[in-house]
Amino acid sequence: MAVRVFLVAENFSRHFRAGLWVVGLVLAGAGAQVVPAVMTPSAAREEIAALRIEIARHDALYHRQAAPEISDGDYDGLKRKLREWEQTYPEIAREVPAVAEVGDDRSGLFQTYRHRERMMSLEKAYTEAELRAFSARVEKAVGKRELAFVVEPKFDGLAVSVTFEQGRLVRAVTRGNGIEGDDVTGHVLAITGLPRTLRVPGQGAGAGVMPAVIEVRGEVYVPFAEFQRVNVEREAAGETRFANPRNLAAGTLRQLDASEVTRRGLAVVFYGIGACDPLTAYPTTQYGLHERIRAWGLPGVEEVWRAMGTDALWRAVQTVETARASFAFPTDGAVVKLDEMAWQREVGVGESAPRWAVAYKFASERAETRLRAITIQVGRTGVLTPVAELEPVTLAGSKVARATLHNRDEITRRDLRVGDFVYVEKAGEIIPALVGVNRARRPAEAVPFVFPTVCPACHTPVVQRAGEVAVRCPGAACPAQLRRRIEHFASKAGVDIEGLGPVRIEGLVERGVVKELADLYRLRREDVAALGKNVSKSAERLLGAIEASKRAELARVIYGLGIPQIGAVAAK
Ligand code: IVH
Repeated sequence: MAVRVFLVAENFSRHFRAGLWVVGLVLAGAGAQVVPAVMTPSAAREEIAALRIEIARHDALYHRQAAPEISDGDYDGLKRKLREWEQTYPEIAREVPAVAEVGDDRSGLFQTYRHRERMMSLEKAYTEAELRAFSARVEKAVGKRELAFVVEPKFDGLAVSVTFEQGRLVRAVTRGNGIEGDDVTGHVLAITGLPRTLRVPGQGAGAGVMPAVIEVRGEVYVPFAEFQRVNVEREAAGETRFANPRNLAAGTLRQLDASEVTRRGLAVVFYGIGACDPLTAYPTTQYGLHERIRAWGLPGVEEVWRAMGTDALWRAVQTVETARASFAFPTDGAVVKLDEMAWQREVGVGESAPRWAVAYKFASERAETRLRAITIQVGRTGVLTPVAELEPVTLAGSKVARATLHNRDEITRRDLRVGDFVYVEKAGEIIPALVGVNRARRPAEAVPFVFPTVCPACHTPVVQRAGEVAVRCPGAACPAQLRRRIEHFASKAGVDIEGLGPVRIEGLVERGVVKELADLYRLRREDVAALGKNVSKSAERLLGAIEASKRAELARVIYGLGIPQIGAVAAK
C-alpha cells in the first residue's frame, strides 16, 4: 500500500506530491516505510534490477535518441524510487549490477573528446521543503547563515562545453558521460550569435585578462519562436513535427549536417566555467561570472536573481517560475547556486553533482484526464493526424479538450486505448501533447484504436511512403485536403483573405462551388450569399477581400500554394 501511495504521488502535481511525501515520512516515523521494510531478498533484488533497467532505457531514449517516452518528472520519480530502495536494502543494491552509465549523451556519430574538467549534473529539488533543506545543508557546510545565492533559469536544451585558447574558439563538446563527450565544434560554430573570439574586458574585475585556456559551459537550445517556425515548415513539407524544443535541439546536434543548426535557429547561452588558466581569470562570485561572460562578448543569461538567505531564495525561485511564462526560451526549472566561489569550493562536490547548487524543477504543466475518442484530421498534404478527444480538463489555466497524437505509430507505441486515463502536457506548442497513459487506471472496457485504412473524408485507401511515419490520403479530389489547402492559401501568411474562415470554406467545398484554389476567383455573389441568411454585406466584404488578394505579394502567393519544401522563407 505504501508503495502504491508513492507511485500515485509521482504522477500528480508537485504540491500534492509534497503532501504525500509528508505522509510517507510520517508513516516511516511510525514504523511503516515508503519502500516495504520486510521483503524477500530476491524480491528486493528484482525490484532494484528492474528499476535500474528501466532508468537505463529512459536514459538511452533521452540522451542518445533524443526521443523521451516519459516526462522529466516521471523520470525523476523513477530515480527517486530507486534511491529509496537502495537506501532500504544497501547490501542487495551493491550485489545488483549497475546497468549502464547514467546520463550519457554520446551518439557514436562524432569523435569523442575528453573535457579538461569534468562536467557535472545537478541534484534536484521539487518542493519548498526540499529547497529549504538544500539551503540548510549549505549553511551547515559553510558554517554561516543567510548566505547569498544566485537563481538562474534552467534552460531546457543540451549541455555543451566550449573551449577557447588564447581567446579563439577551438572546440565544442557535449556533456557525454561528464568525462568525455561528442566533438560538435562544426555544429556549434554554425550557431548564429556565437563569437569565435573572446573580447578582452576593458574594465571591471578581470579587466585586461585573456585566459590562455578556458572551458565555458552552457546550453544549446531552441527559442520557442524558432521551434514553432520549424514545425510549421516541417508540417508543410509532410515531415513529422518535433515534440518539444529540447528534442529539436538534441535532434539537430545528432545529425551530421551542421548547416541545419543555422536553418533550425539553434541558440546557445553560457552559465558556467570549467577549466580556466590562469585562475586569476576565474571570477570570485557566480554573479560576477555572468558579468564576465557578457564582458567576453559571449551570449549570457539575460536575467538572474540574487537572494540572501532561505526565505528570499524561495521567493526568488517562485519569481522565476512566474516569469517563466514570458521567457522566449524553454525552461524546466530554476538553478540555485551559492554565489561565493570560495564557499562553493568549501561545500564541495558529490559523486556526480556539486553540493553548492540545486535544480528546482517546476511543476510540469500536466494534467490527467480521460481519452474519450480518437478522431482523424486530414491535412492539406493528405497526412492523417490522429487527435485525442479528451474529457475537458484545466491545464496551466486553460481548458483542454484535445491533444495531438502526431501519428499512427505513437498510438501503437503507447498502447493507447479509447477510455484510458491519459496525461496531457504543455510542450511548447499551442495544442498540448498526450505524454503518457495511466495503466493502473485502465478500465476493463478500454478498447484499442483501429487506425483507418481509408481516408475518413473521401474513402480513398490510405498509403504510407517508404521511410515516412506519416499515413496519407492520396485522393486527388479529397474535400478535407482541399479545405485545408484553401485555409492555408487564405491565411495571414498566405494571400490573407479576411473573412474566409473554416466555416465558409466548408460551405463552399461542400456545395461544390470551389473544387480547386483557382475557383475562389470565379466566385459569384450568389455563391457566397447562399452560404447563410442575411449575409449580403459580409458576402460583399468577402468578395472584396478575394479581389484584393490578387494584389498580394508574389512570395505570399507561392507560399499559399503549399508546395512541398517551400516555406515562407523559401517562397521569398
Ligand atoms: S549548472 C556544475 N546552470 O541542467 C553545475 N546547468 O540537470 C552544472 N542546465 O547538465 C550545471 N540551465 O545541462 C547549470 N543555469 C544553468 C542551467 C543548467 C540548464 C542544465 C545543464 C545540466 C543540467 C543538470
